Amino acid sequence: MTPQRILTGITPSGTPHLGNYAGAIRPAVEASQRPGVESFYFLSDYHALVKTDNPERVQRSTLEIAATWLAAGLRPERVWFYRQSDIPEITELAWLLTCVTGKGLLNRAHAYKAAVDKNIAESEEPDAGVTMGLFMYPVLMAADILMFNAHKVPVGRDQVQHLEMARDIATSFNHRYGEHFVLPEAAVDESVATLPGLDGRKMSKSYDNIIPLFASPSLLKKLVLNIVTDSKAPGEPKETEGSALFQLFQAFATPAETETMRARFAEGIAWGEAKETLFNKLEETIAPMRVRYEELIAGPARIEQVLKSGAAALRAKYATPFIARLREAAGLRPLDRIPEPPTDSQAKAKAQKPQFKQYREKDGLFYFKLVGDDGNLLLQSRGFVSAREAGQAVTGIKNGENHEQWAEPAPDADDTSIRQAIDALCAD
Ligand code: TRP
Repeated sequence: MTPQRILTGITPSGTPHLGNYAGAIRPAVEASQRPGVESFYFLSDYHALVKTDNPERVQRSTLEIAATWLAAGLRPERVWFYRQSDIPEITELAWLLTCVTGKGLLNRAHAYKAAVDKNIAESEEPDAGVTMGLFMYPVLMAADILMFNAHKVPVGRDQVQHLEMARDIATSFNHRYGEHFVLPEAAVDESVATLPGLDGRKMSKSYDNIIPLFASPSLLKKLVLNIVTDSKAPGEPKETEGSALFQLFQAFATPAETETMRARFAEGIAWGEAKETLFNKLEETIAPMRVRYEELIAGPARIEQVLKSGAAALRAKYATPFIARLREAAGLRPLDRIPEPPTDSQAKAKAQKPQFKQYREKDGLFYFKLVGDDGNLLLQSRGFVSAREAGQAVTGIKNGENHEQWAEPAPDADDTSIRQAIDALCAD
């Protein structure tokens, strides 16, 4: 049995924080230790260029994030651990995919649409400040995933649309050039904690409310003391619901410890003491990792070596042979073995894919019909007053709308053949 391939990218554009650890790093490291999976973890540094224009920050963040994953227990001898830009086949694939990706698909991407909406709200040109890097982001991400035919991609909910796009893009490529890609699925783990930050909103760089994972103990303490609470006095019962402090504690404590804390909230624990308990709990988990982290950061050449050898092995095993196959499929082929032109009957067989044919009858109306791959009639439309309306109906059918509103099945066509022919055309 081929193992399940699980793949995740981390964009190196910031400093890892507690939210990244609890929400992504810790579950991923745990998952990578399960038998029967082949895991891929990589630093998507090309994606980082979309998010920041600060070269030092990209480099620094790449180092910090690589060191964080290793300190958190990722075993590079058991998983694939690499940097996107060390695998040139990924960017090469991104172009092959670009050529089968509808611009309309990318127009609908949430991040791009948000940028356009913001511009419009501010009376700017719709595309003001939008780079092609931002626009093409989903295609590069599809290349990351499809390069290794990953089955499952653990992501946050904000990335689910990107996975749908990767599937669409893979389907278009497969339709055009043959079945090369597995359709990947997003794995959104609802049970994984989204941690609140200092101000109670989701912990995120963009809200400036993060607690860096490897802050020094004194900074960690200071930040914990800054977590917002209400102004209830010691002895007054406190709500766990909606308490950032409680949620942070829960993300690092055992269920039993969490219940004890819940009871202490009900008894009216003083905020100062609750913060002290949270700090100690965090330190307990983080301190041993911090030691490993400091050691790793002190030897960046070793990390460089780990990433480079991961990429080299991965290229040799998957990327180089796979891109060769894809280039071949797309017609980027050596010229010394041009095949004979197809014989007439081969050409004819090939030409007969299911298709919609549109035409005008003597009655002046516009019609379409669907013919199957052996040339047999499957659907016959009613007449439309314009070619445009007939075309719209064809598009509707290709988009999965019910064909019965526009066309009748041919007397000897069965439902399955109609369905299959439409499915084959849908991917166009
Ligand atoms: N876009 C992802 C993020 O911002 C990072 C990423 C890049 C990624 N390529 C990927 C995630 C491939 C999963 C698979 O979080």
